[in-house]
Order: sequence, then C-alpha cells, then structure tokens
Amino acid sequence: MAAGATPIQGGRWRRAWWAIDERLGLSGLAYPVPAHANGIGYILGGISFFGFLILAATGVWLVQFYSPSPGAARESIAYITNTAPLGDVVRGIHFWVANLVMATVLLHMGRVFVTGAYKRPREANWLIGVGLLAVTLGLVFTGTVLKWDQEGYEALQHNVEIGELLGGLGFWFTPEFTDTLPIVGRLYMAHVVILPALGTFLLIAHFLLVKRHGISAIPEVADAAVAGTGPAPEKGGSTFAAHLIRMTGFGLLILAGATLVSLVWGASLGERPNPAIEVTKPWWMFLSFYPLEDWWGLTALLWGPAILFGGLILVPFVDRSPWRSPARRRWIIAIGAIVALVVIALALYAGLTPPAAHVQEAGG
Ligand code: HEM
Repeated sequence: MAAGATPIQGGRWRRAWWAIDERLGLSGLAYPVPAHANGIGYILGGISFFGFLILAATGVWLVQFYSPSPGAARESIAYITNTAPLGDVVRGIHFWVANLVMATVLLHMGRVFVTGAYKRPREANWLIGVGLLAVTLGLVFTGTVLKWDQEGYEALQHNVEIGELLGGLGFWFTPEFTDTLPIVGRLYMAHVVILPALGTFLLIAHFLLVKRHGISAIPEVADAAVAGTGPAPEKGGSTFAAHLIRMTGFGLLILAGATLVSLVWGASLGERPNPAIEVTKPWWMFLSFYPLEDWWGLTALLWGPAILFGGLILVPFVDRSPWRSPARRRWIIAIGAIVALVVIALALYAGLTPPAAHVQEAGG
C-alpha cells in the first residue's frame, strides 16, 4: 500500500462505498443539521425543488414534440396527448406536478412567514424567495399560453394588454416587439430557457444562503435564546444526508401521486382559440386577480400583483423585532392572515361566478 493511503477494511459493500466516497466526497453531505429540519414544515422547500427536477425531466420529453408556432402549437399538444410515446402520461405528470409545486412553494413561504425565518440574517434569502415565487408564477403563466387553446389564447390576450398598459416597459410582452418571431415563440423561449435559467440562478443563491446561515431554529427556542432563558439553538440532531433522503422520499411520493392521477385525469386541452370570445378563467393561483379585473378593469392586473409583491418585499423590513414566535408577532401574523383570507375569498368568488369578458382581441 502506498504511504499515506487510507487502509480499506470491511466487507465488499463497505469497500465499494469507500472507493466511491474517496472520489466523490459524498460523506461530506453528512454534516449535522438540527432534527427539526426533517419535519414537514421545514422540508417543503426541498420538496418544491424535487418537483422542479420532475418538471425539468418531463419538460425535456415534451419539447421533443412541441411546435411553438400559432398554426401548429395546439395540434402538437394534441399529438403529444394522443400519439407521442408516453405523451399523455408525461404531459399529465408535468401538469399535476406544476400544480403541486405551486402549492408547496406557497406553503413553504407560509412556514417561513409564520416562523419569522425571514429575520436577520435571512432577509436577503426572503427577497430571493420572492423572486423565486415570481419565476414560478411566470412558468405557470407561460406554460398555459403554450397550449394555444382557448384558455391559452385568453391568457395571452391578457399578457399583451398588460404589456401595452406598461407602455415602453412592457414592449417585450407585445407581438409588435419583433416581426420575425410570433409571440408564442418568445413565450416558449421564456418557458424553457429564460425563466428556468433565472430560477436556477436564484435557487443556487437561495441554497448557498441556507447553507451559510443554517436552517433557522424553532421560534420558541430562538426566542428563549434571545431572552437569555434557554440554551442556544441546537446545531445537530440529524444530518443533511438524512434530510436529502427524506426530501427524495417525499419527491418520489409526489411523482407517484402525479403519475397515478394523470392516468385517470390527464391535462386538458381546449378548443382551437376563437379570438372573438372570452370564456375561460385562469388557473387557481391567478384566480384571486380575476374579480379585481371584473370590478376595476385591466389596470387591476397591474396594481393587484404589484401591491401583493410589494407587501412581500417589505415583510422583513417592517417586522424587525428579534422575536420569532407568532405569539410575540401578533400584528404581522394578523396582517398575513387577513391577506391570505382575502386572496382565498377572491379566488373562491372567482371560481363560483360565471366568466366575464375583459379584453377584446390580441395578436398571434
Ligand atoms: C422555487 C421555490 C423555492 C424553493 C425550491 C425553495 C427552497 C428552499 C429550501 C430547500 C430551503 C431550506 C429549508 C426548507 O425547505 O424550508 C429554503 C429556505 C428558505 N426559503 Fe425557500 N424556496 C423557494 C421559495 C421561497 C419563497 C417564495 C420564499 C419567501 C418569499 C422563500 C424563503 C426562504 C427562506 C427565508 C429560507 C430560510 C428559512 C429558514 O432558515 O428557516 N423561499 N428554501
């Protein structure tokens, strides 16, 4: 044996593991993390991440058959659904996992909000999270347009109208931006290149900061340390490797669930778009803005989300006390609860009322 080399003992499996670990350094992932990091509330971000991996894998399959032009887009989706190998199941998984990821991202944000985990030193990571929320919504929105059915076309009409309302700033969102590529081609590029690249960049920053700061302590423990009445928050109890395994388990559960559901209820595809009518409603995550548009017109689609996102950005700057438990942060928890209830009530109202026409016609 060469001088300095580690003697390898034990059975065949152990030796194989050491050989792999010596080259890949996998045991470095077994660094300590607090036990609560494995609780469901603290693993929702990891589940969202696993969901993004499923979306990327299924998306790669879908782009083999999708044609991003106004004349062929809807028919290529019909081809994926009816003819392409595994097309209907892969499309169904992409659709259902997109819904689940949206839900887990919102729940993850809710957990971070309720436990005050956006406080010093994690303010920047909260802001990066707000960016990730915008990217996730952007992915859902552009994905809807790609279907190029009635629903997708109406979503595009709103995209164009908002672009026009924004004037110079919204120029990219209108068909007039270029004569060389129809807007569906540019939204396709946004869906498969621009937003995934931006999301990846933000995710890397998000994860590096989680590693840098460590996962936040449970609020009661953090507060006891601030008040000087309890021990310092725990640093160990589990390992990051165990956390990854648990996250993978939840991720595979999501994949299995989405596969089963998509065998029964595949993703829908509506009729060819009729530019003269407006009869569909948006996906559930955009539904809350729908009544605002009914009551105040298209401009509400600008200021509604702007107020919501502006509020989210302000959270770490207005709640600056050192306390983390909800009982000591009653006013911000109350505001958060009221906003969440209003958003849910608006979405329910929109879901129960008949669709209304808001915009007239958009270019293709
Ligand atoms: C694309 C969506 C997102 C992914 C994949 C993601 C992923 C993660 C992961 C894996 C963690 C580690 C702990 C955990 O899972 O709870 C985390 C922590 C964190 N995330 Fe996210 N996140 C996303 C969106 C968001 C959003 C929308 C916000 C808030 C606006 C946010 C704010 C934070 C903060 C402040 C932490 C540190 C929490 C702590 O230390 O307790 N994230 N994120």
